[in-house]
Amino acid sequence: MDHSIKSRLLKKYEAGHDVCQTQGENPPMEFYSPFGPMIAKVQMPDALLERINAYADDKVSASEGRELLLPREVSSGGGDASLANHIASMIGRYLAGMENTRVSRVDFENIWIVSQYAGTPSPVHFHTGDISGVLYLKVPQIDEGEEARTYISGRHAGYVNFLIGGKQRFSKSLVRFKPQVGDFYIFPGWLLHVAEPFRGSGERRSLAFNAFVTTEDQPPAERPTR
Ligand SMILES: [Fe+2]
Repeated sequence: MDHSIKSRLLKKYEAGHDVCQTQGENPPMEFYSPFGPMIAKVQMPDALLERINAYADDKVSASEGRELLLPREVSSGGGDASLANHIASMIGRYLAGMENTRVSRVDFENIWIVSQYAGTPSPVHFHTGDISGVLYLKVPQIDEGEEARTYISGRHAGYVNFLIGGKQRFSKSLVRFKPQVGDFYIFPGWLLHVAEPFRGSGERRSLAFNAFVTTEDQPPAERPTR
């Protein structure tokens, strides 16, 4: 392979110099955490949330957790403003920011809704596909004091926790985010994550997807098999 093409392809693995933390003492110290997977977060428009919730409202149970596949006519409904288009466009931005590449094709394997009530966990898992994501459609009212509850290894009750690499000193192993309506997280499909159960009232409703991506500079050998 041409050397310049090869170095361009390898460039996507090179991290930037973003400072993730500073210590203001004299002299100030800057901390970098350049390695590992990146998680992106973006807000999804209210109109989209309303459309997906309207579809799901009469299909979820009022008390029991369940999962339902989103039919293609729902994910593709709304023309240019469809859910599938929105997700594909955010995947494009993720790839542009992460690898400085352009996405030429996004194939959704599945898009589904997860409806959960108090006490139900989503155990540690990863997804199929290249890119996955989670969009929060509804969040429950968490009981007072419950937010501070942590599980073994520091995972946080009611939060989505991303995990990597076990425990290693001087290396971060997990990050937690509090589900908020409209928040959309994009991450590599192989990244382990877990939604801890919560204590409280109401429904935690999220939407998840698995997608395969093809990029303009991707050599045929690296293209996903579908
Ligand atoms: Fe997941």
